[in-house]
Formats: sequence, C-alpha cells, structure tokens
Amino acid sequence: MIKHLDELVRQAKLAQAKAYAPYSKFKVGAALMLSDHNYIQGVNCENASYGLTCCAERVAIYNAITQGYSKKDILALAIVSDSTGDTSPCGACRQVMFELLDPKTPVYCVNAKNEVKEYQVEDFLPQPFNAEGLK
Ligand code: THU
Repeated sequence: MIKHLDELVRQAKLAQAKAYAPYSKFKVGAALMLSDHNYIQGVNCENASYGLTCCAERVAIYNAITQGYSKKDILALAIVSDSTGDTSPCGACRQVMFELLDPKTPVYCVNAKNEVKEYQVEDFLPQPFNAEGLK
C-alpha cells in the first residue's frame, strides 16, 4: 500500500463525477500519482458513435504524456467505478498501461462499495505484445 493512497483515490473520485457517459451511464474516474506530487485525472469520454469512446485510464495516461511526464514519473494509478463487482480495466487499457507505465506500477481498483484491490500493471497483461514483438 502506497503513501497518500487516500488522496489518489479521492482524485479518482473527483474525476469520476466529471465523466462524460450519457450512453452507458457508467461513470469511471482515474487518477495518476506523480513523483513531483501532482495528480492527473482522467474520465471516460463517450460518443454517439460508441466505438470512439475512450476509457478513463487511457485519458489519464495520455494526459500525463501530453504534459511531458513519462513512466519514470508515474508512481501509481487508481481507477474508480460504480461497479458492484470488481472494477477492472478493459483490454485496450491494459495494453496502453503496459506500454506507458512501468510493469511494477501499483494499480488500485475501487468499486461502488469502496472496496480497494491492489494490482501491478504486469498483473493485467500476461504474455504482452510489446515493442519486442515488432522485431
Ligand atoms: N470504461 C472505462 O472508462 N474504463 C474501463 O476500464 C472499462 C470501461 C468505460 C467505457 C465506457 O464509457 C463505460 O465505461 C462502459 O463500458
């Protein structure tokens, strides 16, 4: 369990309230904790053309990259959803997490009951396709 986990989850919940999810009504918030003590949020952004939807985790990660951060700066990720079961990142987000975060980065998944499950990025993607696979 990392220091300042409470604040990281609070940031993800603040994000969740801003999610744009008029179609699924399933709001997801994500937050990254950075080594310079900043936090970066992400929300799911849906579209009437459903396939264009981007998940909260990817929005947060792309936002970090846009702001000039890289995997060495990203200490942890939290994902919050209103699922009564597990909050679990989708396959596309797993691939993006594997590309842009360190495999050992802790990931905290929080559900509607406020249950927190801790993982590492590498737990979500066994036998990943990565840059090595392009050689
Ligand atoms: N969603 C996320 O934001 N993150 C995930 O890991 C799973 C799904 C969003 C996408 C869509 O807006 C809604 O949840 C329902 O699939």
